[in-house]
Formats: sequence, structure tokens, C-alpha cells
Amino acid sequence: MSTATQYWVIANWKSHKTTTDVSAWLTKLPSLSVPAQTTAIIAPPFPYLGHVAEAIQNQPTVSLGAQDVSPYPMGSYTGAVNAKMLHDVGVKYVVVGHSERRRYFHETHLDVAQKVDQALQNNITPVVCVDVEYIEAQFQAIAPDQASQCLVAYEPLAAIGTGRNEPVDHVAEVAERIKQLFGAVPVLYGGSVSGANAREYTLVSQGFIVGGASLKMAEFSTIVAATQPLK
Ligand code: PGA
Repeated sequence: MSTATQYWVIANWKSHKTTTDVSAWLTKLPSLSVPAQTTAIIAPPFPYLGHVAEAIQNQPTVSLGAQDVSPYPMGSYTGAVNAKMLHDVGVKYVVVGHSERRRYFHETHLDVAQKVDQALQNNITPVVCVDVEYIEAQFQAIAPDQASQCLVAYEPLAAIGTGRNEPVDHVAEVAERIKQLFGAVPVLYGGSVSGANAREYTLVSQGFIVGGASLKMAEFSTIVAATQPLK
């Protein structure tokens, strides 16, 4: 049996793209070659989930992701998109607690913990984003039996969208701290990942959250290919 490391690479489009842009990106899907141990995840804005779901139907190595989920179940919560709905349209992974959600939408550790709970109750894997200052506080807010069912992404604020990707040895240190708390969870890295630097991180992380560089298929595809183990 192969013991090769598994990887997850998430295209986080954030609040970008129109229907035309999404279609253009998706027509290039055949050029995305995903290594055997890797899952590529496309996380579009909510209105395009169905569009992406349809395009990846026959692509077992590409999964659907969401960028957020309601902390509440189905019910009278105007504007909220709940985990049952996400599951219903084919979402397998959801990013929770991204620093942009914490900063611009004032999400708390408790909100994030409730999102984790909602996702897991609906068979969606939560990808919990943390920065160093609050790894422990975020961990403590999550129900003890749920922490080990998450993927955790180390996303240093200073590296997001700045072109200043974090030194690899620091990512390794933080990944260790995350595993000490959460258990043997896959730890992803996010922050200015590009086709040029992705491979450096494959020894210290189990994949990436890719923002800016995921908007162009060619660049995203180079990052996904970087998870191919060297022969
Ligand atoms: P970036 O974003 O790749 O544009 O730095 C990463 C993220 O916010 O997840």
C-alpha cells in the first residue's frame, strides 16, 4: 500500500469573478492534472457553486468547496447559506474562519466553532483557518471530538495577498503546534502561494489555500502539480 502524503489544494476565489469568468476558467479544466494523492478543491462564491458542480461532475480528483457556511441550521436566518444546502449542491469542503471573515464580518472563535459543528453534522469537511496568535483559542472553542475531524490551514495575515509568503521553516514550526493541539490533522498553508514557491511547502504541509494565484487556471494548475512527489 502506498504511504505517500495526501494533499489538498483549495482554489479560494474570494469575492471575484462573474459568470463569464467562471465559464472561461472551467473550460480550461481539462488542463488541470491532479496528482494521484491530491484533491483539488474549487471554492467559488455561492452563486457559482452549481456552475462549478456541473463542470466537475466527471472529475473525481476535483471537489467542490465553499468559502463560508452559516453557523445556524436550516431556519429563519435571512441571508444565511446553511451546511445542509451546501451538502445538497455537492459541497465536500468548507473554509471557515478565514481572516477576511474575522476582519470584515467580525467572526469570533465561537462562530467558527459553530460552523465546524454545522459542517460536520452535514458531512462536509471544515477547513479551519488560523493565525499564530489564536491557534489555541480557536482550538479551545471547537468541541473536543470535532477538532480532529478538521483540516487546519495556517494563514499568516502578513502573507495573505501581499506576495510575502511565510518562510518554510516557520510554517513547519506552526504546523507542529497545530498538530499538538488538534491531533494528527492535515495542515495546509495559505498566503501568497504561487507556482514558483508551492513546492517548497510540500514537505512541511499537506497542501494549500490559494487566493490570487487560483484565479488563473494556468497558475493554479502549476501549484496543484507541485504536490506530485519527486521521483
Ligand atoms: P493569497 O490568499 O493566495 O492571495 O495570498 C490566500 C488566502 O487568503 O487564502
